Amino acid sequence: MSTANVRLLDHLRQPAYFPAMPGRTSHSKSPRNSVAVEDYLERILELINTKGYARVVDIAHSLKISQASVTNMVQRLDAEGLLNYEKYRGLVLTTAGEALARNITRRHQLLTDFLKLLGLDDEVIYHDVEGMEHHISPPTLHAIEALTAQLERQPALLTRVRQQLEG
Ligand code: CO
Repeated sequence: MSTANVRLLDHLRQPAYFPAMPGRTSHSKSPRNSVAVEDYLERILELINTKGYARVVDIAHSLKISQASVTNMVQRLDAEGLLNYEKYRGLVLTTAGEALARNITRRHQLLTDFLKLLGLDDEVIYHDVEGMEHHISPPTLHAIEALTAQLERQPALLTRVRQQLEG
């Protein structure tokens, strides 16, 4: 197995799936915080997909943190083999980094699709998904995916659910 794949598996085994609950916050400064890693990778992929590139200044703006903090994190992600960063040439995701970024993006999308079906407010959905996406386990995500698919096929049931939520 390639080094990148070993690193990817290490990351997938990180506590992002089963985090210790108390005091865990989205932007804590713990050196191996996979929530922060996932937030960065998610945002970098989003920037690359929308702008074609991701610069430190754009990431800082998007995550609302200082460029110095972003530079530190980007260097760490580089050291971990998730991206390649060169100060004057910007950054690119490695295969392992892109796989992780796609994984968090997929979790974001599936959870968003599910909550949208229930008719929740877009801002509430975004806020909740940004938290849930880091903590949900693969089996629970899979269950929500199945539930979403069934609800989409049963509009009468979906209508009853939404009516109950409104009532
Ligand atoms: Co997200």
